Amino acid sequence: MALVTGGARGLGAAIAEALAAAGYQVVLGDRDLSLAQATATRLGGHAVALDVASEAAIETALDTIEATHGLPWLLVNNAAIMKAQKVLDIDIDTFDAVMAVNLRGNFLCTQRFARRLRARDQAGRIVNIGSLAGQNGGTATGAHYAASKGAVHTLTKVFARDLAPHGITVNAIAPGPLDLPSVAETIGADAAARIASGLPTGHLGDPATIARMVVELARADAGSITGATIDINCGLYLR
Ligand SMILES: NC(=O)c1ccc[n+]([C@@H]2O[C@H](COP(=O)([O-])OP(=O)(O)OC[C@H]3O[C@@H](n4cnc5c(N)ncnc54)[C@H](O)[C@@H]3O)[C@@H](O)[C@H]2O)c1
Repeated sequence: MALVTGGARGLGAAIAEALAAAGYQVVLGDRDLSLAQATATRLGGHAVALDVASEAAIETALDTIEATHGLPWLLVNNAAIMKAQKVLDIDIDTFDAVMAVNLRGNFLCTQRFARRLRARDQAGRIVNIGSLAGQNGGTATGAHYAASKGAVHTLTKVFARDLAPHGITVNAIAPGPLDLPSVAETIGADAAARIASGLPTGHLGDPATIARMVVELARADAGSITGATIDINCGLYLR
């Protein structure tokens, strides 16, 4: 069983679809419960109300999932908010809101899920959705978003180190700009088109490619891959 945070739409829904196709029972945890329910119905999965910015909401959602379906094998930390603001224009409330979801939310979901795995002496898989912005500062998203994603890549390494002895792997995927509505919604249609035409591949990243990588990292026989950040960025950033 797999829990995908922010699974109601966009990349999270694509990941949930790939996991369902690979035979997983999928639970979509999202703060937009009605959209998560509609997506879950389409995929044959389940939806649960989840705001990753709330410690209490995370525990409640995990309690509900565990009571109904058992403890998941896989957690995909996908929920995030993207903001395009220049550094001089960022107000501290928006900075805090981005960090609360993208960084603190990632930390809390990982820690609380891993605590439950450890309490039952179970192995498992955690996949964090990072971002190219966390590696190179990004092209159009703000400093808060880029910094939160860079920190997610760092959390991935530290959780991986501490959980490796227990059969729990923690990896990240760092996508470049994806063929999803959120890009134009965040930075505007013109900027999105400029980014797309400037990519070495000549096209935006395919969300299904990211989703297939999640399925790969989640395999029971993928225990040797941990602490990695996998670049899937259409050749935009070669390191
Ligand atoms: N779109 C891209 O080009 C791109 C590129 C690199 C990385 N990413 C990453 O991919 C992930 C998904 O991005 P997307 O483009 O699908 O975004 P999106 O905005 O389309 O979807 C995000 C989902 O997360 C949910 N969500 C937001 N805040 C939440 C919260 N506090 N608790 C629970 N759910 C919450 C939303 O309701 C929504 O369903 C994010 O981590 C994003 O940073 C996206």
